[in-house]
Amino acid sequence: MQRESTRLDPMGSLRRTHLCGDIGNDQVGQEVVLAGWVNRRRDHGGVIFVDLRDRTGIVQVVFKPEVQPEAHERAGLLRNEFVLMVRGVLENRSDETINEKMKSGRVEVNVHELRLLNTATPPPFLIEEESDAEESTRLRHRIHDLRRPPLQRAIAVRHKLAQAVRGALDELGFLEIETPILARSSPEGARDFLVPARNHPGSFYALPQSPQLMKQLLMIAGCERYYQIARCFRDEEQRADRQLEFTQVDLEMSFVGVEDVLSVLEEVTARGCLEAGGVEFQRPFKRITYKEAMDRYGSDKPDTRILLELADLTEDFRASDFKAFRGVVESGGIVKSLHVPDAKELSRGDLDRLESLVRKELGAKGLAWIRIGDEGKWQGPIVKFLGDPEKQAIESATGLAPGSIVFFQADEASRANAILSRLRIDLGERLGRVDGREWDALLVVDFPLFEKDADGNLTYVHQPFVAPLEEDIPLLDSDPTAVRGTHYDVVLNGIELGSGSLRNHRVDVQLKILELMGYSEERAYQSFGYLLEALETGAPPHGGFAFGFDRWVMVMAKAPSLRDVIPFPKTQRGQDLLMQAPSEVGTDQLDELSIRVRKPRPAAGE
Ligand code: AMO
Ligand code: AMP
Repeated sequence: MQRESTRLDPMGSLRRTHLCGDIGNDQVGQEVVLAGWVNRRRDHGGVIFVDLRDRTGIVQVVFKPEVQPEAHERAGLLRNEFVLMVRGVLENRSDETINEKMKSGRVEVNVHELRLLNTATPPPFLIEEESDAEESTRLRHRIHDLRRPPLQRAIAVRHKLAQAVRGALDELGFLEIETPILARSSPEGARDFLVPARNHPGSFYALPQSPQLMKQLLMIAGCERYYQIARCFRDEEQRADRQLEFTQVDLEMSFVGVEDVLSVLEEVTARGCLEAGGVEFQRPFKRITYKEAMDRYGSDKPDTRILLELADLTEDFRASDFKAFRGVVESGGIVKSLHVPDAKELSRGDLDRLESLVRKELGAKGLAWIRIGDEGKWQGPIVKFLGDPEKQAIESATGLAPGSIVFFQADEASRANAILSRLRIDLGERLGRVDGREWDALLVVDFPLFEKDADGNLTYVHQPFVAPLEEDIPLLDSDPTAVRGTHYDVVLNGIELGSGSLRNHRVDVQLKILELMGYSEERAYQSFGYLLEALETGAPPHGGFAFGFDRWVMVMAKAPSLRDVIPFPKTQRGQDLLMQAPSEVGTDQLDELSIRVRKPRPAAGE
């Protein structure tokens, strides 16, 4: 029997009895068989120690010449990342070699049999908890990087979260349904990735930016409750929280209002966080309107654990003598403040550094501030421009007191809010103005349906299929920018976890909204004909949501970037350094697709 199997597979008669992570004091005295990679080998004059690593942990295995001379001799040839199986007896370590930090830190395997399953090229960096290798090196050598414990943990969190979400949605009656990856281009906000259609020269499929229209069609087709862990593709600028290719937990429901969807979102969010990270939330989640979030925090995804708040002073500067601020108000901008109580520790140098930071990184025009001295005296470069009415307004809006610093931004609304919101987070974290909760889950509701783009035209805030609140439908004709949408977001620790809304199930309302955004009926049917026709076939009221799955894992794993929670991510420049994608293809392949490549000319001087 043994001979037969030795011949048949590389592990011979050995089979794992335990994973490294299982090994602890309980198994002392037992014979165990472990398998994995050499994390490190140390030769202690005679005795050889190997840290053996698998997905679950590390166990020290020892080769002693007097126990098994042949295994000991071969152990001398082991190098990092060689692949082994060992059989031996689990024993207590000698006192000097105990490592209390590891579960297996008091024990070691005294090896009786070594089976070398494979050799390995030397790793480009050590496989450790923290790597000091450059990120590009880690991405080029992603196989080694993925062997590091934080990435193994992130992959496990991904799995657990996916399982939790599937379990919760299954119990809530959702069906998991797939939708096409080769789809049709649709204007959802980002640039599409196109795929040439060989049999239709000059025509292209588009990779889905999200399954938005497909899931609406499924509702119209009577599927009632759909979900999918869906891959989405958006050719947009990459950032730490954006990838070209990412995953959504996408869902849609029929015969629902906003509250019905929100209660599902709470359930799924809570189950996912509990099962993937042991995090328990108080229910119901805190809720805040878009307007209140922007007013108080300057952001539609506030981290409400940070205690600092903004105040609006626009009206108080409309007639002020401080020309820099009055001018901004006259041209339609706003003036807002951020109050930091007890801010004595911020030195003049700190304030100058903050000003140059917001100028450089966020395009601020300046960073005005005032400081209140011990006796209540107002100090700072703009005090001389402030009259009594402005001072009183600032005092009552912010609640300042001796020791306070108040920062100001006068600018167009979006920039002023973005700058103060960034300062709020930076200063709140730096000065410890936080309420001590580790987790903050928030529902943001009542987003406006439209906003004006840079040219003053109406455009959608979320996407063109969001339904207005029922009572605001009449405003579509009279005052479109006042129309509130049914759009809602889930925000976790200041990160937008996902977005959703009710959709237009009435074709007249959908057409009206497209018309307000500049689509003639003809163009609307050209672009979205299949949706508009479907709406006419008997569409139920429906709505849904999409969680950014990678972002969710990033927050649960406390990782700084999506690249740390996606097994094979792209760089900021959209490259996969492991596969070396994108890559050029041969002319024969291009000919077949009827494609001729025109490379951009190098810019002058290159
Ligand atoms: P939205 O475009 O807001 O909505 O996307 C939903 C969530 O997906 C995540 N996300 C991303 N994650 C990583 N990289 C990206 N480039 C990226 N872009 C978005 C975010 C975001 O909140 N169809 C609608 C949903 C709906 O209305 O049901 C949609 O796609 O976490
Ligand atoms: P100035 O009158 O330009 O010297 O500005 C006085 C102070 O106000 C300086 O500290 C500037 O940084 C600040 N400041 C100027 N314009 C703005 C603005 N639009 N928003 C915020 N602070 C500003």
